[in-house]
Amino acid sequence: MAKLIFHDEEEKNLEDGSPLIEACEDVGVPFACTEGVCGTCVIEVVEGMENLSDFTQEERDFLGDMNCERLACQCKIKCGFVKVKF
Ligand code: FES
Repeated sequence: MAKLIFHDEEEKNLEDGSPLIEACEDVGVPFACTEGVCGTCVIEVVEGMENLSDFTQEERDFLGDMNCERLACQCKIKCGFVKVKF
C-alpha cells in the first residue's frame, strides 16, 4: 500500500502502482486534458520523488528540467509515500 500526502495534512492510501489522478481529483487538483499536454495538473513533489514512476515523454516535453514537478495525470505511485503540493 502506498500513500499520497497533500500539503502535509490530507492523506490518500493507494495500491502500489496506482495512477495519481483519482486521489488528486478528490482533493481538488484541477485536470483538463488528462493526456499530459495542457499542464493544468502540475503538482510539486516535496518528498518521495523516487517513489513515483519515471517521467513520461509528455512530462519531459512539458516540464523540461523541472525535476520537483510532475503532471498528476501522467504519473503513478510505485510504493511508500509521496508528499505533494498543488
Ligand atoms: S490534465 Fe492536462 S497535463 Fe495533466
